[in-house]
Amino acid sequence: MSPTSEPAATRPGGTRPPPLLYAIIGILVAVLLLGAGVFVCLSGGPPSLLGGQFTLEDGTGKQVSDRDFRGKYMLVYFGYTFCPDVCPTTLNEVADAMDRLGAKADRLQPIFITVDPKRDTPAVVKEYAAAFSPRLIGLTGTPEQIAKVAKEYRVYYAEHRTGPGPNDYSMDHSSILYLMGPDGRFVAPIRSDEGGEELAKDLGKLMS
Ligand code: NI
Repeated sequence: MSPTSEPAATRPGGTRPPPLLYAIIGILVAVLLLGAGVFVCLSGGPPSLLGGQFTLEDGTGKQVSDRDFRGKYMLVYFGYTFCPDVCPTTLNEVADAMDRLGAKADRLQPIFITVDPKRDTPAVVKEYAAAFSPRLIGLTGTPEQIAKVAKEYRVYYAEHRTGPGPNDYSMDHSSILYLMGPDGRFVAPIRSDEGGEELAKDLGKLMS
């Protein structure tokens, strides 16, 4: 071989990693990727992107978990009972959509979860939910339980002071409806401002 056929090897101070090292690194990367792929298959696919396990309290003081709703779709909404506009509007739409869904409504459980557990006691959320629809379940919990479920659903909420008193605050919160499947996995987000008729149409399409 002529010396000019390997110019890189003649660079001043340049040392070429041996090709064997590249081969070993390549094999290690391939093994790691394969291992990750096998793990995902064994664990039943990638984890659900949104939602998760929760334990909260319903209006009767009973502990309620996400597992209690398996076999049914869940339509989950986060808000608070003192909300002046967005929450009541959304929950009216949900109630309207439930009426329009006919038989499909029996396979759908609408759930309201408060982000204001300080004021929204079990009795308060129960009475609030019932005012919209007898089908709507209101859930609350400890501040820690609410923080956990809100994090799982990527829900933003924050206290917004409106005065000096202990109850002088409103809650800023994201307003999205989450449709969860009968297996508890996330199906789709749904806009909360489209009206009962549109919501019923969307739900009808998304529910198999
Ligand atoms: Ni609200």
